[in-house]
Amino acid sequence: MSEGPASPAQALAPTPPMGWSSWNSFGRRIDERLIRDTADALVESGLAAAGYRYVNLDDGWQAPSRDAFGDLRPDEGRFPGGLKALGDHLHSKGLKFGIYTSVGRKTCEGFPASYGFEEQDASLFAEWGVDYVKDDFCGGPPFWCRYNFWPWWDYRSRYTAMSRGLRSTGRPIVLSLCNWGFGRVWEWGGEIAQLWRTTFDIWPSWRRIMGILDAQRGLERFCGPGRWNDPDMLEVGVAPLTLEESRAHFSLWAILAAPLIAGNDLRSMSPETLAILANPEVLAVDQDPAGLQGTLVSDPRSPLQAWSRRLHGPGERAVVLLNRSKAARSVEVSWPQLGLRGPARVRDLWRREDLGAFDGRLSLEAPGHGARMLRLSGAQEC
Ligand code: GAL
Repeated sequence: MSEGPASPAQALAPTPPMGWSSWNSFGRRIDERLIRDTADALVESGLAAAGYRYVNLDDGWQAPSRDAFGDLRPDEGRFPGGLKALGDHLHSKGLKFGIYTSVGRKTCEGFPASYGFEEQDASLFAEWGVDYVKDDFCGGPPFWCRYNFWPWWDYRSRYTAMSRGLRSTGRPIVLSLCNWGFGRVWEWGGEIAQLWRTTFDIWPSWRRIMGILDAQRGLERFCGPGRWNDPDMLEVGVAPLTLEESRAHFSLWAILAAPLIAGNDLRSMSPETLAILANPEVLAVDQDPAGLQGTLVSDPRSPLQAWSRRLHGPGERAVVLLNRSKAARSVEVSWPQLGLRGPARVRDLWRREDLGAFDGRLSLEAPGHGARMLRLSGAQEC
């Protein structure tokens, strides 16, 4: 880990951003009441104190057209108080304000987007007190979207224009690129943004989550403090994912050093869902200051997998034993797979208990479509 002074980009997101976004549970059906109630729930549930700070309005906040000055504006019926007031409210609760736009002429839901207006939109966002901008990829290609303009020949320069626009406001604003992994965004995203989506959208399906997980392999080296691969927002607590599936999904996102943007309805979440999102030991893995992305250390063709992440401090590892099959099975990992030797203390991060000392290998039963998550300490690096 480099201990030098953080660059300005790193300082914006030295660890993966954490928060909530409206999209996964509400789609375009969002309004001021929902956002205020969600902010209350974030604070009252303890999630804000656990690190979930960004409250992100995704697609659907906009009025159908720009105003007479060419400015974006919120839908008046659903956001009667305006977004400056909403941002002030979020800030007064110790939260941060995130907003959404797209690189083309229209967002995926057909609202006005930022093509050619990057500087103007960036300064408007800054006036509203925005702290985080998600810049989507619609505009849009006919085979993805209903809109027939896709700035495919210059989307990198449009993203760069938004990045410059945000920077020139002088306000620290995180930029999240959402071009679904196109153009090997991980290779250049870090020059202009703090995080970038690596795949097309997530939905609350075990199969989909496993597919996204597989797509993260090979991207490890592009991740680090201030620059994060984003496997998409969380579906923890979103039906029909089961509790075990949610727990495994969350364990894996933590091993990947992924941004943790909750996508469930916080106003009505169960205590079990809250316990997943708020588990301090799993969050500590996600937020580990070394910022190294974990990786698969076992056979990719097997449904029983071991994922390992190096944490700061010699011999420190987080391990997820993943069972992708339907029935409970034992999952094994050996020290050579983890790059360790000698005895290690093993802690179970979901049961919150020490399992004792292990040497050389470890095998634990994991539930079907589920995972065990561990932290190993004290072994030697090899
Ligand atoms: C998709 C994006 C989703 C969501 C949606 C809004 O392109 O990947 O995360 O933002 O657009 O329309």
